[in-house]
This record gives sequence, structure tokens and C-alpha cells, in this order.
Amino acid sequence: MKAVWRSRLESSNLKNINKMPYQIYHFNSLTSTQDKAKEFAKKGLDNIIIVADKQTEGRGRFKRKWHSDKNGLWMSILLKPKNVQNLQYLTFAAAIAVVESIKKIANLNTNIKWPNDVHYKGKKLCGILTEGIFGKENCIIVGLGLNVNQNKFQNEIKNTATSLKIVKHKIINIRKLMKSILDEFFYFYNNYYATNKLGKILNIWKKDCDTINKDVKIITKTKTLHGKVVDVDNDCNLLLKTKRNKIIKIIEGDVNVRY
Ligand code: BTN
Repeated sequence: MKAVWRSRLESSNLKNINKMPYQIYHFNSLTSTQDKAKEFAKKGLDNIIIVADKQTEGRGRFKRKWHSDKNGLWMSILLKPKNVQNLQYLTFAAAIAVVESIKKIANLNTNIKWPNDVHYKGKKLCGILTEGIFGKENCIIVGLGLNVNQNKFQNEIKNTATSLKIVKHKIINIRKLMKSILDEFFYFYNNYYATNKLGKILNIWKKDCDTINKDVKIITKTKTLHGKVVDVDNDCNLLLKTKRNKIIKIIEGDVNVRY
């Protein structure tokens, strides 16, 4: 499938000219691609991709700042799925699409850290933020931030983040990477998410995830837990076995998992 690469200015002609499942809108700079996707959602559109070279107010999960100067891939996928019961699986599908595409385009093996960070040797390469607008029609926005060609990072994140360029010592083609991620994502979305074959997504996700079988420290707002991750259940929760052999279910929330 081929992507439509549109100019910065929104076109009023929203016809899908090449029978592709999505259209791409590219901007030099936005506050956040999530905000722009929300504007498109209000117009009743879906299967729209918003990409920006730079975001001035990029955000991560739990309203954390997401550093998004130039040289990264900052993109939001606007969808109108029939089923919005299993949204975590959309995030999982996006994470797999990123891992598989990095392997294909940058020849690098990366892993997913539960719930949805893609990292290389413990340093974060990509984060995913899934947001919903619920009403008469439900819209979902899967936002994906991937560090591609940055040479360095701000002090706040320089010990925890890395980019493909830093790891591979070469510039990676952002557009090729984006196209591959979209193709992979829409494959999972159409063939598995929309048809409710969620187990297929979970099985692939588990292969790419390195959190299972790891000894971890889980930091929540109120406590710190230590244990071994034994599995991720069908609701995408982490199952942690404590030293006393108790299994605790960790629900995705404002928790910090450390290896
Ligand atoms: C996280 O790890 O906390 C998720 C980060 C998600 C960042 C992306 S970049 C594109 C989209 N626009 C945003 O403002 N956020 C997401």
C-alpha cells in the first residue's frame, strides 16, 4: 500500500486517491499531533495520519512532557474502530509495528517494555500514547513518538533516552520508517484488531517484549513492589510474582517498571 504525502496545508479534498487505507497530513510544526488529530476527528474523519517535524507541546502518558524537536518521528493515527473495548491492544499493535519496522529499516533488534515503551538496552527509543474521544462516534488516536536522528538529548532525559542514530551511527530514513510502521500497524489493525483476533496481537507482542521473566521493581504513587514478572494476561495486565509467591496483577496506570 502506498501512502499519500500531503503538503502542510490541509486540503479540502479528502478523497482517498490511491485506494490506500489511510491518508497522511504532514506539518512543519504543531503543538501536538494529538491535538491536530482531535481537530480532524471533530470533522468526522478517520484513518488519518498526522505527522509533524517538530512539536512545541508534545505530551506523553500522564501529561508528561514529550521532547519533540526535529529529527524524530512524531505521528498520530486517527481511527474510528467499531470496538473500543480493547484499546490496549491498539497500543500493543503500535509497539509491535515499531519493533518490526526498526528491525526492517534500521537492522536493529529492540524490545518492548510493558506496557508500551520500545527500548534498546534499557534506553527509550519510542513511546506510545493512546487517547479516546467517546461520544456518538468513538474516535481513537494512537500517538507515537520515535527518536530517530537526534544526536543528543536534553539533560532531563539524556540518561534514559536514545535515538536510532546514536545506536547505529548513521542517519535513518524517517519516511521509510514511518511507512513501514503504518503498513505493519494497519495490517494488525485490519486483520487482528477489527476481527477480534486479539490473541494473535498478544502472542507477537510477547515475543517482542522483554519484561516477562524479568525481576523488576514496580513503583506506584503509594508503594514499591519487587518480584518476577510471570506473564501478561489477556487484559494486558502484568502478573507479578512476589518473593512470597503471591501473584499480583499490575494494571497499566501511573506505574514505573524498572529492570
Ligand atoms: C509516552 O511514552 O509517554 C508516550 C509518548 C507519546 C509521544 C507522541 S509524539 C506524537 C504524539 N503527539 C504527542 O503529543 N504525543 C504523541
